[in-house]
Amino acid sequence: IAAEKGGYAHFMLKEIHEQPRAFKDTLTGRLNLEKHEVKLDDIKITRNELEKIEKIFIVACGTAYHAGVVGKYIIEKLCKIPVEVDIASEFRYREPMMDENTLVIIISQSGETADTLAALREAKNKGSRVIAITNVVGSSVAREADDVLYTWAGPEIAVASTKAYSTQLIALTLIALRFAKELGTISHELFDEVAVELKKLPEKADLLLTKEEEIKKLAERYSQVEHLFYIGRGLDYAVALEGALKLKEISYIHAEAYAAGELKHGTLALIVNGTPVIALATQEHLFEKTLSNIKEVKAREAVVIGFAKEGNEEIKKSVDHVFYIPKTHPMLMPILTVIPLQLFAYHAAVARGTDVDKPRNLAKSVTVE
Ligand code: G6P
Repeated sequence: IAAEKGGYAHFMLKEIHEQPRAFKDTLTGRLNLEKHEVKLDDIKITRNELEKIEKIFIVACGTAYHAGVVGKYIIEKLCKIPVEVDIASEFRYREPMMDENTLVIIISQSGETADTLAALREAKNKGSRVIAITNVVGSSVAREADDVLYTWAGPEIAVASTKAYSTQLIALTLIALRFAKELGTISHELFDEVAVELKKLPEKADLLLTKEEEIKKLAERYSQVEHLFYIGRGLDYAVALEGALKLKEISYIHAEAYAAGELKHGTLALIVNGTPVIALATQEHLFEKTLSNIKEVKAREAVVIGFAKEGNEEIKKSVDHVFYIPKTHPMLMPILTVIPLQLFAYHAAVARGTDVDKPRNLAKSVTVE
């Protein structure tokens, strides 16, 4: 086992560190910068079929569902098709409205989650086309979907998903770029901008991993708290959901993610002197709005750890600690932001002495309902 962990104390830590390599594998052969195209061989849906799509559902469980929330923002922005994200166990029992003009994107690391598989079958019964994003070649989801996109993250052993999530985000971005190109909803400039930045993700992830010690110190410092809040807007909110789940599942600290603009509608009542808040503020067009939410929690004497884009000096004045994320296209920011959030959860869990790779009551793949 020690050898399988490649010198790391846990599989989770090894898998976090495998992300630069995993990103490369997810991208290899799929992005052609010279030809300005995305090649996804196993997604066979034609331009004609794509033009008939009126609505997209993204359906998944757990961390894969959180990837779907990011996917919604990206696909709607690039493809101009409305996207609904659903938890598989909800979707399958609520008679969702879908037909042959609906596209369903199923996301599952293992490809074997019972509720997700049932949702896939339900979609096919209704005549919808199904694309699967999965990490496991030949899994049930891969076999039953019409089209498959493999994440190529490599085996993920730790129950808490890390590299599977970030590569699912890359996969969703590739799909969005390809569809937008075919539908003519993206400019050449934007396509190239996102594509060039996608290629740079592995080196930026590497850079982030060199700052592990900084995150470890913060995680240890706040590892004994009972509650922790994550706030953000837009894509920062989407990635906050995943950050909070990571912390809950392995450290057992109660963590909640809130859309920063919703604070006033309830959660602010829980913010008292010393409450730790992780504020994600990487989205430039929303920065001023998020900053005013940070000031709201600071006014209640919260302790704020801010995550911002490299070069943002403004945030320093309003938070207790800042952690900087390398610059990339705003749409790709969650792929980088999640890495320190994974490390924060990991080091908080280690400091609390929990069984990081096998958290209590949880399984890697939930194959029964
Ligand atoms: C379990 C795992 C999670 C995972 C979820 C969905 O709850 O503990 O890490 O996100 O299942 O799994 P899937 O294999 O469908 O992505």
